[in-house]
Amino acid sequence: MAIERTLAIIKPNGVEKNVVGEIISRIESKGLRIVGARFVQLSREKAEGFYIEHKDKTFFQGLVHFMTGYPIFLLCLEGENAVFLWREIMGPTDPSKAAPGTIRKDFGDNIEANAVHGSDSLKSAEREVAYFFDKSQLYNRF
Ligand code: CMP
Repeated sequence: MAIERTLAIIKPNGVEKNVVGEIISRIESKGLRIVGARFVQLSREKAEGFYIEHKDKTFFQGLVHFMTGYPIFLLCLEGENAVFLWREIMGPTDPSKAAPGTIRKDFGDNIEANAVHGSDSLKSAEREVAYFFDKSQLYNRF
């Protein structure tokens, strides 16, 4: 299987709950490797640009407000099938529909404050990783 990279975000409510280490531990225990990481507090412009595909949705402004209200923790993850694997570890978007043991079930509060973000495809992952990380900020193992 191909080695992929994907973007993970620990959202404001995950950072506020002090579960950054717990989430990283789950990521590493599933065999994914962290090749980039940093805290950032997003500007409105940066958050809007990130979620641009949702700009016409009713929840867009609320989501941007939530994502800019507190620091987030950005991660670039690498491993075999990383995009799918990280989505499996997170669970579905809505925590109320997520299985026990998934991050969103365990740490999400609602569909907006769902603790973590993950890229939804390899194409999105490429855009999202590049949106937050310069090449020089990523650990190149290969
Ligand atoms: P995320 O993985 O960050 O990608 C887009 C985000 O939009 C999603 O997680 C949710 O936090 C948010 N979102 C999706 N649907 C809704 C909704 N119906 N109401 C509020 N927020 C939503």
